[in-house]
Amino acid sequence: MSFLTVAILVLILYFLIVAVWRRYKYFQLRDELGLPGPQPDFFTGNIKDLFKMQKEVGIENTPYIRLKVAEIYGKTFGFYAGSLLEITSTDKEFTQEVLIKQFSNFTNRPPITFQDVFPMKESLLHIGKSGPHGYGWKEIRSIVSPVFTTGKMKLMFGTIHERIETLIKPTDYETVMKMPYLDAVFHEVLRIKPPVVFFTGRECTKETYVKGYRIPKGVIANIPVQAVHWDPEFWPDPYKFDPERFIDKKSIDPLTWMPFGLGPRNCVGMRFAETEFKTTLVEVPSKGYLLLLPCLRHWFGPSKKQLHKLFGPTL
Ligand SMILES: *[C@@H]1O[C@H](CO)[C@@H](O)[C@H](O)[C@H]1NC(C)=O
Repeated sequence: MSFLTVAILVLILYFLIVAVWRRYKYFQLRDELGLPGPQPDFFTGNIKDLFKMQKEVGIENTPYIRLKVAEIYGKTFGFYAGSLLEITSTDKEFTQEVLIKQFSNFTNRPPITFQDVFPMKESLLHIGKSGPHGYGWKEIRSIVSPVFTTGKMKLMFGTIHERIETLIKPTDYETVMKMPYLDAVFHEVLRIKPPVVFFTGRECTKETYVKGYRIPKGVIANIPVQAVHWDPEFWPDPYKFDPERFIDKKSIDPLTWMPFGLGPRNCVGMRFAETEFKTTLVEVPSKGYLLLLPCLRHWFGPSKKQLHKLFGPTL
């Protein structure tokens, strides 16, 4: 063996040992922080545990996995997504600290590989404090926000309304937006089936303490929206669709309803979504009907049996 070969081999070995050592150290971090969670696997962290649970509960019940994990490890626990430590919490104070009070220490969304390419990389959703062109989420948000003001929504409502010839008695923006039961349905639908459940956490951008836990820079604080929305402590009989819960909105804790996230970086299109939802519900019944696609019934609708009863064997 030539000297060069030996040197290269030694170098490779060195980097390998360093990489293994680093990973080994990182997998001790969770214990150091005092967080419970399953033992990580050297190569995949806790991903395997997730897959195992998914298999146990059935793929259609994936949204319930976090609740199952919380049953074992409590309201706040740590999970290694590969080699990335993710602290998941349904604790209200934790949520409030991360998303609102200590927002300045958690300004970024968690890094997701598929978003790490253009144009997602430069989008409002993903961008950090400062993007490749020198401006960050704050600058983009201040440009985008005015698009969704109440005034703009009213204009849009007017346009939509003009284009649909209505059979029902004419309605205006104020009337539709203030219909109390419609509003309750809007809230309850989004509570029981929140559509956006990934990337709802934050990446710690500055080491800090939350509820006594040290959170190093780079660790993900994940607030699992579904687990919060389906927590019987916050929402009695959580799987029951019951808009009445929202008739008296004063009794609702804003920290337990977060389909649009919370804090300075919540969903910028929230008001638009509300207008869209309410307008659709008011207008559609007079125009036609909605049909649930069979492939989506696991997530949104009645069981196969019920559908069979409803629509016959053709489905
Ligand atoms: C952010 O973290 C620092 C410690 O790094 C802490 O002193 C500060 O109070 C935190 N910010 C807020 C708004 O709590």
